[in-house]
Order: sequence, then structure tokens, then C-alpha cells
Amino acid sequence: MRTVWIILFVAFAGYTALVYTNGDAGRMEPATAQVRAGMDTWQQQNCASCHQLYGLGGYMGPDLTNEYQRAGEERMRAFMRYGSGRMPALELNDAEIDDLIAFLAWVDRTGSSQVSPENVHWSGTYFIKPTTP
Ligand code: HEC
Repeated sequence: MRTVWIILFVAFAGYTALVYTNGDAGRMEPATAQVRAGMDTWQQQNCASCHQLYGLGGYMGPDLTNEYQRAGEERMRAFMRYGSGRMPALELNDAEIDDLIAFLAWVDRTGSSQVSPENVHWSGTYFIKPTTP
């Protein structure tokens, strides 16, 4: 019986040490003032009524979590400035567009919204890997 308690205590102490020393591994890069301004514009313009970040939001437009690396900055600027047949032109000024780009580039660096097939276990569990800042 005593051995069981010792094993449990060692496991607890070891796991606690691991959590406290490794806890910062996947920490997000701090948001700059411009990133925060972009987030404000994102909320004021209610971009999330049509777009998702990490799968959350409206479904009229595409998920924009990783659009920065997928579509590139110029394409995103064009949509924000002129809209398209399906996205309305929101009459954003240059500063607002710059801020939104900074925000969406930052969101992109927080990780991937699509779990790639090699990160899905046969049981359906996702392997979550911490992103390196
Ligand atoms: C009324 C719904 C609606 C709102 C509000 C909206 N969008 Fe869109 N957006 C769309 C749709 C629909 C598309 C796809 C357009 C297409 O492919 O022609 C799109 C496309 C985009 C794209 C291009 C994605 C690509 O294909 O590369 C970007 C970037 C984008 N939106 C950013 C924004 C931002 C930033 C805001 C807020 C300032 C916003 N959108 C608000 C509907 C919306």
C-alpha cells in the first residue's frame, strides 16, 4: 500500500514540474497596438457576421484564420478595399485596412485552423502541436 502512495506522489510531483516548466510552450505572441486596432475594426465592422476565425463566425464568407498565408496580403487588401460580387465594399480607409492586415497576419501566426490529415489519429483525436512564435 505504501508503495502505491509513493508512486502516486512521484507521478504527481513529476507531472506538476512538467506543467510548470513547459507551460509557456505554445504561448501566443503578444498583440501590438496595431493588431489590437485591427481587432477593434474587425469587431466594429462585424466581419465575423460573414467570416469565421478558427471556425467560429458566419458562413457567408470563408474562414480567414490562415488566409494571410494562403491568399496573400495583396489579394486580401483588394477584397477589403473594393469588396467583390459577393462581399460588400465596406468603405474602409487605408489605416483600417493596414490594421486589419496586421490583425489577420497575427491570427495566422497563432496556428492552423484546419487540422491536416497527418494530425488526425485513427480514433478521431487531433494531435495539437504548439506553434513556435
Ligand atoms: C456581408 C458579409 C461580409 C462581411 C460583413 C465581410 N465579408 Fe469579407 N467576404 C465575404 C464573402 C461572401 C467573401 C467571398 C467573396 C468572393 O469570393 O467573391 C469575402 C471575402 C473576403 C476576403 C478574401 C478571401 C479570399 O478569398 O482570399 C477577405 C480578406 C475578407 N473578405 C475580409 C473581410 C473583412 C476584414 C471584413 C470586415 C472588415 C469582411 N470581410 C466583412 C463576405 C463578407
